[in-house]
Amino acid sequence: MDKLLISGGRALRGEVRISGAKNAALPLLVSPLLADGVVTIGNVPHLQDVTTILQVLGRMGVTVTMMENNQVEIDARTLTSAVAPYELVRTMRASILVLGPLLARHGEASVSLPGGCAIGSRPVDQHLKALVAMGADIRVENGYVHGKVNGRLKGTRLVFDMVTVGGTENILMAATLAEGTTVIENAAREPEIVNLADILKAMGAKIEGAGTDTITVHGVESLHGCTHDVIPDRIETGSYLCAAAMTGGHVRTTAADPKQLDAVLLKLQEAGAVITTGPDWIDLDMQGRRPKAVSFRTAPHPAFPTDMQAQFMALNTIAEGTSTIAETIFENRFMHVPELCRFGAKVAVDGHTAIVTGVEKLQAAPVMATDLRASMSLVLAGLAAEGDTVIDRLYHMDRGYERLEEKLAGLGAQLRRISARSGS
Ligand code: EPZ
Repeated sequence: MDKLLISGGRALRGEVRISGAKNAALPLLVSPLLADGVVTIGNVPHLQDVTTILQVLGRMGVTVTMMENNQVEIDARTLTSAVAPYELVRTMRASILVLGPLLARHGEASVSLPGGCAIGSRPVDQHLKALVAMGADIRVENGYVHGKVNGRLKGTRLVFDMVTVGGTENILMAATLAEGTTVIENAAREPEIVNLADILKAMGAKIEGAGTDTITVHGVESLHGCTHDVIPDRIETGSYLCAAAMTGGHVRTTAADPKQLDAVLLKLQEAGAVITTGPDWIDLDMQGRRPKAVSFRTAPHPAFPTDMQAQFMALNTIAEGTSTIAETIFENRFMHVPELCRFGAKVAVDGHTAIVTGVEKLQAAPVMATDLRASMSLVLAGLAAEGDTVIDRLYHMDRGYERLEEKLAGLGAQLRRISARSGS
């Protein structure tokens, strides 16, 4: 397993280009399953999770062509099998997103249940309940979801029990080819939902209200090919801005979209950062100051994103004052706490709430990544701590951060990957 060695204590300075969003790329790469034509998707990040979803498509006989400059061409007219196998789905739970499109376009699908993951049980009951309401026959057997539809899915009015990003994406895609109109109430409002609705509209889908909590889809007979780009990664953006704020530095994120992360920018300003923005860039200048402690609670977009909770906790560990963090989305998303405490952080967890007492300085330490966003909080702590930090189980990081070492080195960080193979 690769490790990352970070020599911390340096202020980060410079520009970093933001990649396409992992959580937008995954549903976008699945959407061509609905189309009778070639779909070209741009700004696709080179990430393990993207590789996995392309493997799932390839296993189903879909033609996937990697072009240069981060473009992928997908032609699902060559599909030969509607099965998403366990050995792939278990490594990337978002594979469940193939279920809706396969049922809508081909009338059948067998998709392995994703199973839980480190941050929570993450069931897919809302996805299945909605598909049944649209007329699908759903059976869960031997760890697989077997779906079948006689004829077309039927549009209907659906109300999700809780805001679910994946559930909204699965049903949004299924509804585009359903007979009649589907209204999704209590829909997720994340920018990734809007990106997905935009590519579906480019294919000829009729969708209103994406980005609000009520999405209306008028089903059509078929969808055609198109070309569309993945939006910038708002979580990667927030992660690099946190790195600048924690090291007292000055960083500009480019190819970014300031409108995607108002809640995060407001909290960074509350922590004392000077933030300026342009149409596709965000500039954070900490002016050498120590951040002030900032309390927050995670909630569905446009509130503070759960995917930024671990990174902002790292910032609070060295901030002036005490902060309270409430994690309201996932039941087990504090696994970075014991690892942050190895740096000398003072964090107490009480159920879904963490109390952080800021310390002047963190001490470098050997630590272990437990999940994707937790691994970034350890990188941030390593960048701020004096001395050499070694982070193990880097594969968690590689799932969601493109060219991390290169981007951080470009900002003046001193770090290198210790590859398990060569041990170098
Ligand atoms: C997406 O996961 C993201 N992943 C997650 O990012 C993100 O944390 C999450 O949305 C919330 O914003 C991708 O987009 C690939 P949910 P998803 O369905 O869709 C419960 C990262 O680090 N729920 O919105 O799986 C669920 O257990 C990842 O990039 C049900 O109970 O999240 C959770 O408590 C981590 N039943 C809550 O809803 C369901 O059928 C929100 O889950 C569906 C969800």
